Amino acid sequence: MTNPDTSSARFYLTTPIYYVNARPHLGHAYSTIVCDAIARRKRALGIETRFLTGTDEHGQKIERSAELAGRTPAEFATAISGEFRGLWDRLGLSYDDFIRTTEDRHIRGVQHLFATLRDRGFIYKGSYTGQYCVSDEAYVDGPPGTVCPDCGRTTETVSEENYFFKLSAFERKLLEFYEANPGFMGPESTRREVVSFVRGGLKDLSVSRTGFSWGIPVLGDEKHVIYVWLDALANYITALGYGSGDPVDQARFERFWPADLHLIGKEISRFHCVYWPAFLMAAGIEPPRSVKANGWLLFDQGKMSKSKGNIVRAETVQEVLGADALRYFLLREIPFGQDGGFSFEALVQRYNGDLANGYGNLVSRVVNMVHKYFGGMVPEAGAETATEAALRECAVRTIAAFGPEFDELNFSEALKALWLLVAETDGYLTANAPWKRPADRPEAEHVEHQARVLATAAESIRIVTALVYPILPDSAAKVWRQLGQGAIEDALKHYVDLGQVLPRFEDNPVTPEEAFLKGVGMGRIEAGTRFGEPAPLFPRAEKDAVERMQKIEDQNNLNVVQAASVGGAGMIHSETTDAHPSVPEKTTPPTTPNAPRVPASRQGTTSVVPQKQQNLAGALAPGGLSLENASSIPASPVAAPLPNTTAPAVSFPNANMAAEPQSASPQGIAIDDFAKVDLRVAQILAAERVPKADKLLRLEVDLGYEKRQILAGIAQYYEPEKLIGRKIVIVANLAPRKMRGLESNGMLLAASLEGGAPVLAGFLEDVPLGARLK
Ligand code: MSP
Repeated sequence: MTNPDTSSARFYLTTPIYYVNARPHLGHAYSTIVCDAIARRKRALGIETRFLTGTDEHGQKIERSAELAGRTPAEFATAISGEFRGLWDRLGLSYDDFIRTTEDRHIRGVQHLFATLRDRGFIYKGSYTGQYCVSDEAYVDGPPGTVCPDCGRTTETVSEENYFFKLSAFERKLLEFYEANPGFMGPESTRREVVSFVRGGLKDLSVSRTGFSWGIPVLGDEKHVIYVWLDALANYITALGYGSGDPVDQARFERFWPADLHLIGKEISRFHCVYWPAFLMAAGIEPPRSVKANGWLLFDQGKMSKSKGNIVRAETVQEVLGADALRYFLLREIPFGQDGGFSFEALVQRYNGDLANGYGNLVSRVVNMVHKYFGGMVPEAGAETATEAALRECAVRTIAAFGPEFDELNFSEALKALWLLVAETDGYLTANAPWKRPADRPEAEHVEHQARVLATAAESIRIVTALVYPILPDSAAKVWRQLGQGAIEDALKHYVDLGQVLPRFEDNPVTPEEAFLKGVGMGRIEAGTRFGEPAPLFPRAEKDAVERMQKIEDQNNLNVVQAASVGGAGMIHSETTDAHPSVPEKTTPPTTPNAPRVPASRQGTTSVVPQKQQNLAGALAPGGLSLENASSIPASPVAAPLPNTTAPAVSFPNANMAAEPQSASPQGIAIDDFAKVDLRVAQILAAERVPKADKLLRLEVDLGYEKRQILAGIAQYYEPEKLIGRKIVIVANLAPRKMRGLESNGMLLAASLEGGAPVLAGFLEDVPLGARLK
């Protein structure tokens, strides 16, 4: 039996806590799904597991987003936090605790940590004048105008009296710690980056801000709010009860801390691998055991992110293919630690290839044949022949490979190994064709053959299913029932016991992982077991699946635009949580986690909301995803009347395209037509006249995710030097054109009366670079 008091019998793992300035997308779901798979495996191994996730709700970025939405930060944060939690619930993610940094338990704990650091002499008062990136909530070295090295946005200059943390005192200690704990951070690229950052020298870190109020006040000096990263990182301990003074909380903290694994995105490794262990060491608390960084999910132009507007929502994939399909794709397709491209095409291809035609089809063939030929009772396998022995050896190899790969977070390799067994079993079944009796094989012998082949194939499926459970939890549970094995979680724990208690003398397994792997090989399906009813697992995705997912996303984007036009800064939800009443009502039928929804009639039904309802939702709901871009859109950006001779027209004073009067059909253009134009916020970095061209300016603009050159016909109206730093709107997906030997990549937007001077489109509020106008 596993010993609940050994440290290996406990596992505490965490996701990053998500900023509440925007609604969740697949990039966020990725980290949480990875953690969920790990947590499920640990629990199945009988390990006492605690899986924490939550939302990061303080700081200037959230305060500004709330202001743009016309909400209080608290209302705003509650709504978006509810969206995250609701989505995790709908995806069936098995977190044990969800922390919000606005909760009392957290605020108390952070204030306690701050006071402890101060009492121990690691915090002092000073003043900071320098650059700050609000988007990353990070201090940046450099003169005013410096661009944030992480996100590429222009930093802001802050000059404040601050509290400082003596980070410089931890340079050596951290390097020694990394040296003594080689498994502390990963992958290797992260480790190298962090070590070189620390070797480069650590400066003391400002850990309070005074310019705004949305944060945790420093006790006794309330005009300071605690730096949002100190606040956020502390969630990993405050969620366990650190600093509450209650003995029950203290016991929980001691039971689970240090965390076994902080799973994070690669761009936040400095905060987790440098600041966090330093804060903890300074407070006299052990650092976490490991921090592992996942790469980025890429889509279209780069990292999937709200500011680029290139997001896909997990709900869309869940609705069409099911949550298990999404989990499988993310873990199989992307080698953990590396960036990985997401596309609907690749998703559908994997789904059909590996799940519908692979595992799902194998299960369905075997279960159906056991019903057909043996009345649903598992037959006696009889004596093994060379082909069964070969399959058994393949299963043994698979069992040996899967666990260690998974535990090293090599999910893709683990699944690859597992799918070899799926393929072998499929091949075994086809080669032995239990459905076909050769003319020269007597009936009795054929029944024996069928029994051996089907019992052997069922055994393979059992092994695949037991191993794949953490990645395909709902489907594995269904298969388990079809195999007549009852509740899968119980059976898996039983394997650990099996592997532990059977006498193996010297090689008796010691860890739950080893015991499980041994147990999986031993817990055969007994002859005479009654199979459950066959039920479809992964219906084949039809040709239009890609299109349907794209349509759902487009429909969602359309709702966002409509929300912006009818309700100003309000947001429309194509789905929200019903588990958390602070969020507006669902506008779609609830989806069962993992239930594939295939009927074509559902196309586009996600979120068509009557206009009145939209207004209501806009009025009730604090801003969210729509705000990140839509907040910057002038009212009614799409529904505005078409230009006529008296109203100012939106014109295109660029070299690429002369302003041509456009006549629209009486019905107006379709939203799909509008959606073809990729309008983005950009900032002018450089501007100069083009020699021998009176009208042309050559501009270098920054889209946040890339820099471009654009030629614009505005030289008669704008002094180039006055344009530098201005945020403008460009058409980002215009085909490049050459003018005067220079390539122009895009077009800027300006308004003018017929023949009048063009006025560049801009924004009153601050808006992130690359934000899409929709
Ligand atoms: N609030 C901080 C984390 C504080 S943890 C103490 C934060 N929040 S975030 O919402 O911006 O990002 C949360 C996590 O989501 C990060 O790990 C980030 O890498 C991850 N992802 C966001 N977009 C992503 C992709 N496109 N791909 C993969 N992960 C991505 O940072």
